[in-house]
Amino acid sequence: MTISAQTGSIASGSPRLDALTARGRTFLGSRHAIMAGAMSWVSERHLVSAISNAGGFGVIACGAMPPALLEAEIAATQARTSKPFGVNLITMHPQLMDLIAVCKVAGVTHVVLAGGIPPSPAVAAITDFAKLVAFSPNFALARKLLRSGADALVIEGSEAGGHIGPVSLAVLAQEILPALPDAIIFAAGGIGRGEAIAALVEMGASGVQLGTRFAASAESIAHPAFKKAFVRASARDAVASVQFDPRLPVIPVRALKNGGTEAFMEKQREVAGRLEAGLVALPEAQLEIEHYWAGALRRAVIDGDIEGGSLMAGQSVGMVTAEEPVASIIDSLVLQAESALARHAAPLESALPEPASLESAA
Ligand SMILES: Cc1cc2nc3c(=O)[nH]c(=O)nc-3n(C[C@H](O)[C@H](O)[C@H](O)COP(=O)(O)O)c2cc1C
Repeated sequence: MTISAQTGSIASGSPRLDALTARGRTFLGSRHAIMAGAMSWVSERHLVSAISNAGGFGVIACGAMPPALLEAEIAATQARTSKPFGVNLITMHPQLMDLIAVCKVAGVTHVVLAGGIPPSPAVAAITDFAKLVAFSPNFALARKLLRSGADALVIEGSEAGGHIGPVSLAVLAQEILPALPDAIIFAAGGIGRGEAIAALVEMGASGVQLGTRFAASAESIAHPAFKKAFVRASARDAVASVQFDPRLPVIPVRALKNGGTEAFMEKQREVAGRLEAGLVALPEAQLEIEHYWAGALRRAVIDGDIEGGSLMAGQSVGMVTAEEPVASIIDSLVLQAESALARHAAPLESALPEPASLESAA
């Protein structure tokens, strides 16, 4: 297998991985079935185009952007790559239908809908011009989403960075992949190495989606302090937010623990105390909690406030060991996946470790 000196990309291909991900690659139109999950503030023109140019599939995170900003971001990304990329829209965005219209006019080929069950007018509007990818946190919803028009699904385990569901990818993959063999499904959450990709595509995934591994890449515009925090962190530092009081809901988010996560616990205790004492009404108390993290991801990613901001990261953060170019991340993932698949295909004796290494491991 040769690595091109100019682009660092794998020139001679990855036959087993390619065969197992054929549906995913055709669906995305990319060299590899590796989606870079949209990350608000991080997944913008530079990172998205770098990922698509390196053979992955970049996805712009629209987040709270108004339509005009999204339009500019799509145009700037198109100017940097001729390869396919997607746009991630959040279903509760108040201007969702206008954002969809922007995607249509701009010729966007893939729209990823995140943040809850997609409303049917949005599904109809998107499938009119683009392929629709939806997130599914369980089997029942996966089936429902496919029936109601989604062309592909992302099943995301609780190991992931950002907003998370309650179930790990290890379990979701077993529940969903064998039960929906004809569906195009991308597995996400906690993927840091190609061996995991190999296992997932062997189980029936058409491809994968990674976020954390790309957040601190060389092309990511995240603040150097944000990237350093990723390089330093280990898996156990990426913790899910904890709800202190059953009356004050907290949407689970996985992020690196820092001063902000501790202060959030303190804030919940303090608001719960005022609620208990009748000093604040329930809706007001709930709003205080809901608004606590407003702007916090931007503060961490853009301003580099790694103590007070939100350092959203998945448990795979322990596998971020340097600020690497996107092309080298993708190439190592592919090489690791391909060698794992080759080992799986080899006769049992040659797939086992050498006796010497068994001894030294004992
Ligand atoms: C910093 C950060 C921001 C994220 N923002 C979004 C977002 O705006 N929309 C979304 O659908 N997912 C978001 N995610 C989730 C990613 O798209 C992706 O699904 C997830 O990171 C995959 O898991 P991994 O981090 O373990 O690779 C975010 C993740 C991170 C780490």
